[in-house]
Amino acid sequence: MSKSDKVRFGFVGTGQITASAAASINAHPHGKVVAAFDLSEVRVKDFCGKHGIAHPCTSLEALLADDQVDALYIATPNKFHAPTAELALKAGKHVILEKPFAMNLAEAQAAADLAKAKGLTLSVGMNQRFNPDSQKIKAAVEAGELGEIYHAKAHWRRRTGIPKMGTWFGNRELAGGGALYDIGVHMLDLAMYTMGNFEPVTVSGVTYSKFGPRGLGEGGWGMSDKSEITFDVDDFASAFIRLANGATVTLEAVWACHTLKANSNDVELFGTEAGATVVPAQIFRTSQHDNAAYEILEQLKDPKKPGMSDRFVNFIEHLHDGSPLCCTLDQALAVQKVLDGIAESSRTGREVVLA
Ligand SMILES: NC(=O)c1ccc[n+]([C@@H]2O[C@H](COP(=O)([O-])OP(=O)(O)OC[C@H]3O[C@@H](n4cnc5c(N)ncnc54)[C@H](O)[C@@H]3O)[C@@H](O)[C@H]2O)c1
Repeated sequence: MSKSDKVRFGFVGTGQITASAAASINAHPHGKVVAAFDLSEVRVKDFCGKHGIAHPCTSLEALLADDQVDALYIATPNKFHAPTAELALKAGKHVILEKPFAMNLAEAQAAADLAKAKGLTLSVGMNQRFNPDSQKIKAAVEAGELGEIYHAKAHWRRRTGIPKMGTWFGNRELAGGGALYDIGVHMLDLAMYTMGNFEPVTVSGVTYSKFGPRGLGEGGWGMSDKSEITFDVDDFASAFIRLANGATVTLEAVWACHTLKANSNDVELFGTEAGATVVPAQIFRTSQHDNAAYEILEQLKDPKKPGMSDRFVNFIEHLHDGSPLCCTLDQALAVQKVLDGIAESSRTGREVVLA
């Protein structure tokens, strides 16, 4: 911990996601954003101005050498996640990465090994876990309310949700993948987290790219001047995953498709004693009085209830007072392994054995 009793953050990347990240860190009594670097001088100056940081760093090296910085939050295009994390760890900084962990498992594993060797914290900010609804279902599963969970159905499906054409999100070289790595990662992680099961053994999957290459399905996320449009990633992914205890997961991650709802995402859990949805948190089972009816046993009453409400709160409290880290390296590696397995299965047309 720093002498100031605050975990002092340096940001690498000051793009669209970072305004809420900075607000969340600065709202915590033991967190503060003190430095930032971005390849874009304009964006980093603007960010520093808004968050009371006197001088933007002019290079990553300067940020890494700053002994006022305890931890880095890395929010660059995916290609730079793992390499930047390794540089940060070598400089003695803790790291919280944006999702996805890395471009592939080998990169993620190398960063994880380095963090372990250095005795530093490295985590991936899997923010879906921290929604009050997710926490409620997680607690119910741990209390045994659902019995044995034998299946989960996870999806995030958007009708027109491709990040703006011309952003790095559509560029395989910078993003590694499309809908699968961008939003599939969220729902896969949420399914495994709420199930409490991070032991994938096989995966069969497919990805498609049916809208982006035609310039269709564009949504509102991302910064693009549209001067150079590359779209060579997937916009639809579907997969079937087997876990070591025999449980299974289906995953669907879609940036764009013909579908009735503009946007829908959820993890549905199928247990021997009850079923659940996570978005919103509900637990239900067949009525004991009427076999044809279903009754909702529990519903989240107050969506704003306090608690472990976001990824930075957990990360700061882990570093500050040793609270358990919510997203462990082994869990983040398991998620990356499944994502890579789905991509490989799609390329080869075969099931991939993961363990
Ligand atoms: N958790 C979530 O729900 C969520 C939502 C959106 C994005 N993200 C993740 O956040 C990250 C950033 O996404 P975004 O939407 O803010 O992107 P963005 O394009 O708005 O911002 C990326 C920033 O990184 C800068 N940059 C690029 N390469 C760099 C490098 N090598 N070093 C330093 N800066 C560099 C760019 O100049 C840009 O300002 C991505 O990993 C994305 O997957 C997470």
